[in-house]
Amino acid sequence: MTARSNSDTLITIYGGSGFLGRHVVRALAKRDFRIRVAVRRPELAGHLQPLGKVGQIHAVQANIRNGASVEAAARDASVLINLVGILFERGRQRFDAVQTVGAEQVALAANAHGARLVHVSAIGADENSPSHYARSKAAAERLVLSAQPTAVIMRPSILFGPEDDFFNRFASLARISPALPLIGGGKTRFQPVFVGDVAAAIAIAVDGNARAGSIYELGGPDVRTFKQLMQYVLTTIERKRLLVPIPFFIANLQAMFLQFMPTPLLTPDQVELLRVDNVVSEAAIAEGRTLQGLGIEPEPIEAIVPTYLWRFRKTGQFRRRTLKIT
Ligand SMILES: NC(=O)c1ccc[n+]([C@@H]2O[C@H](COP(=O)([O-])OP(=O)(O)OC[C@H]3O[C@@H](n4cnc5c(N)ncnc54)[C@H](OP(=O)(O)O)[C@@H]3O)[C@@H](O)[C@H]2O)c1
Repeated sequence: MTARSNSDTLITIYGGSGFLGRHVVRALAKRDFRIRVAVRRPELAGHLQPLGKVGQIHAVQANIRNGASVEAAARDASVLINLVGILFERGRQRFDAVQTVGAEQVALAANAHGARLVHVSAIGADENSPSHYARSKAAAERLVLSAQPTAVIMRPSILFGPEDDFFNRFASLARISPALPLIGGGKTRFQPVFVGDVAAAIAIAVDGNARAGSIYELGGPDVRTFKQLMQYVLTTIERKRLLVPIPFFIANLQAMFLQFMPTPLLTPDQVELLRVDNVVSEAAIAEGRTLQGLGIEPEPIEAIVPTYLWRFRKTGQFRRRTLKIT
């Protein structure tokens, strides 16, 4: 009897065209799985094709707010992965519709098709949080586990990697602004985690080597305050900028206006998120529900971030070198 190879196994990835999605697609393509990427606009998912062999990655149309399209994308798949998430609300893209009801739809589709499920949530998910984002993520975890008790849930801290929205955003702001804001004094603690490590953790769960029904908390090797992260950005891009503490209530007032930008720099909901530390819990560490528990040694920011923030230096890669002539 021949062993079943991964190329016989179809995995559907909802939200596979996003930042984390690209890395998950790459990790699973390397393992030889067949990959169906379920996206709202398949014609815009062409960037995924070079990550696999010809015919290995196929994009189909699905909107997580439309149960029938979620269900259709799940057909014949052995594993479903849900990476769909939004940082701010726009039009019909509401936290509850996308992150809670949508997540439950994926779990129900997994059940209907006998597929396993890996669901991506976020550290800070809490049904009692003042942040709507955090409440919708927590409600999703509850509904996902009740529809599919064997699901594996991954809660990352803030993700970093070449196309990230955190280091790139503040480095870009430092290029045009004389100051960077320290919301709430910049004391909130984060545990930035490399997007490639989170993708590796998801691939391990797809292989069936993560604990079913568990919530993993994924953080990098170092915990840093927001202020330390801003200092790190400035050192890396070799720029001097003022770091200006902004009390939460003033940040909230600013966010009330900024939230109307096409891609808001800050929303009142994000200010609420910034009030709470975003780090792996003691319970997760004790129970091995971490990257290390999955056998992954996380990359520090120093190993990755300078490789893509150099473009924010004054002279980019053309930094002046001093030649010593003896
Ligand atoms: N980035 C972080 O620092 C971070 C930290 C913690 C947790 N997470 C979580 O990790 C997951 C992936 O995050 P990311 O940074 O990769 O986000 P991202 O780049 O914004 O990707 C989100 C994906 O969701 C898709 N999507 C949005 N609304 C949809 C809908 N109605 N139906 C179908 N697809 C939809 C987007 O596709 P479209 O092109 O169709 O919009 C995109 O492919 C999210 O659940 C997020 O909450 C991220």
